[in-house]
Amino acid sequence: MSILTRTAPASAIRQAPAAAAAGAPASAAASVVAWVESIAAVTTPDAVVWCDGSLRENDALTKLMIEQGTLIRLNPEFRPNSFLARGDASDVARVEDRTFICSPHEADAGPTNNWRDPAEMRATLAPLFAGSMRGRTMYVVPFSMGPIGSPLAKLGVQLTDSPYVVVSTGIMTRMGAPALEQITDETEWVPAVHSVGAPLAAGQADVAWPCNPTKYISHFPETREIWSYGSAYGGNALLAKKAFALRIASVMARDEGWLAEHMLIIRVTNPRGRVFHVAAAFPSACGKTNLAMLQSSVPGWRVETVGDDIAWLRPDADGRLRAINPEAGFFGVAPGTGVSTNPVAIDTVWGNTIFTNVALRDDGDVWWEGMTDRVPDHLIDWRGEEWTPSSGTPAAHPNSRFTVAARQCPTIADTWDDPDGVVIDAIIFGGRRASTVPLVVEARDWEHGVYMGATISSERTAAAEGTIGELRRDPFAMAPFCGYNMADHWSHWLEVGAGLENAPAVFQVNWFRTDEGGRFLWPGFGENARVLAWILDRVDGSAPAMDTALGMLPAPDAIDVTGLDLADGDWEKLFAIDRDAWTREVEGVGDFFDTFGSRVPPALTEQLRGLRQRLG
Ligand code: OXD
Ligand code: MN
Repeated sequence: MSILTRTAPASAIRQAPAAAAAGAPASAAASVVAWVESIAAVTTPDAVVWCDGSLRENDALTKLMIEQGTLIRLNPEFRPNSFLARGDASDVARVEDRTFICSPHEADAGPTNNWRDPAEMRATLAPLFAGSMRGRTMYVVPFSMGPIGSPLAKLGVQLTDSPYVVVSTGIMTRMGAPALEQITDETEWVPAVHSVGAPLAAGQADVAWPCNPTKYISHFPETREIWSYGSAYGGNALLAKKAFALRIASVMARDEGWLAEHMLIIRVTNPRGRVFHVAAAFPSACGKTNLAMLQSSVPGWRVETVGDDIAWLRPDADGRLRAINPEAGFFGVAPGTGVSTNPVAIDTVWGNTIFTNVALRDDGDVWWEGMTDRVPDHLIDWRGEEWTPSSGTPAAHPNSRFTVAARQCPTIADTWDDPDGVVIDAIIFGGRRASTVPLVVEARDWEHGVYMGATISSERTAAAEGTIGELRRDPFAMAPFCGYNMADHWSHWLEVGAGLENAPAVFQVNWFRTDEGGRFLWPGFGENARVLAWILDRVDGSAPAMDTALGMLPAPDAIDVTGLDLADGDWEKLFAIDRDAWTREVEGVGDFFDTFGSRVPPALTEQLRGLRQRLG
């Protein structure tokens, strides 16, 4: 039994005394109870609550957050059981420069990560976490990444002093009693400690979005631990997601022979009824959620959603790659998600959704840029201020988000939570490139595909702090998410591929190429189904392609463009191989590889040499 009864009203959540062991459910493993006690002793919360994941608990927490001003209930007529949270302006995105990989050796974290010596980091964190939950409740949040009991799933427990994090984790994972019951003293589970770093003195009034200007998002790969301090923004605070399912899981995957990747998964059925599964890696905010929920514009092709952000892929007994989406919800970027661009996402967030940093309409519903063509005349913006179209600032923060259960998605595949996962037929790597990279290219083989993944680059978006528009190498779209040396990640991919008898085919796409005037050459969104159709016809062995310096490009007419508004010459521009641009590109890749020194696998250096030679 919880010290807070499972049926507690919001007020009881605030008043429960701290006594971790006394409140532990009977099913809690001794190792979990001991750890919870040890963290409570350090962080000194006023109360400890073991979360069961029930609707009742969720209801009590949302009521509590409404009382505290953290959540605003939206008009139930338009958005039932849905809430708006407004973050502190300093806490609205992932903080990559405050994200640390604390492996014993700096080289094990590699040049794409911020490294800190584990002992040094523990010494830094100790005084910050000491008493950091004073005046607050510490919630014990057990969760399963992947269907409960799946051979591909992994377990974790997050301790947090943020009720916003609890309800968000309840949407994003299988959270609560069933997950806790999976953990025995023999089970591996990942401990994750999170504090917003805003202890309250007796009688001190709380703020709507407590956080701390000092932030540490710290990962200890060797001991599989996560410690996050100072932020309540999802990417920094929902530790099951980026911290566990990517950074720590990538290390587990390296050691256990599988892959934890920043990939969406879709199921695609062709007009002949053949079913394929595709996993696709794109850097943050490059349209992964849109592709995951694509409404095919190509007659007879159907796309269904399995996951929109993370895939865990494991070789099976038949030498194929099988994947699960370890999450149970979507934490999607709101701006740009619209009735015309992603109607499936708009349907998905019909209710039971937490919106963070979007604008509030006068009728009590939400709005963000791109949601509807018509811009409302008046809004309260994401900072809580009056807004009109002439304000000159975005009404919703560019990285504002919706958090919603995957099962609410109208295109969710009925196999999305199959404990055995789905067999992956094709892997796609994408980036946001205004020039150079063609609409689609097929890799010659797995090694070439790994080269494509290793050299993804993209113009920076709002999902993380930094200068928007700047070109950034984002290998495997994992630069901010790989828990170990990226070059070792490439070697690991090569090794996993070498063991696959039926490896997926690999492709590279770029929906974002523009002409000299900056106009997008490709319409994107639902029309991307035309590219998917070519990709899967290649897998099926029926689509013509041309061998080029970059790989296999679609033969002229192999992608049906009937009905598209392409100007004369656009098709050629979409596939043009500009030798000068490619010469600069390979130089850039060479310089990038050099930052990893001798850890770059020879197979990739060979791929680069081959490309250079083919370009002449
Ligand atoms: C995300 C990200 O939030 O990649 O998914 O930043
Ligand atoms: Mn992501």
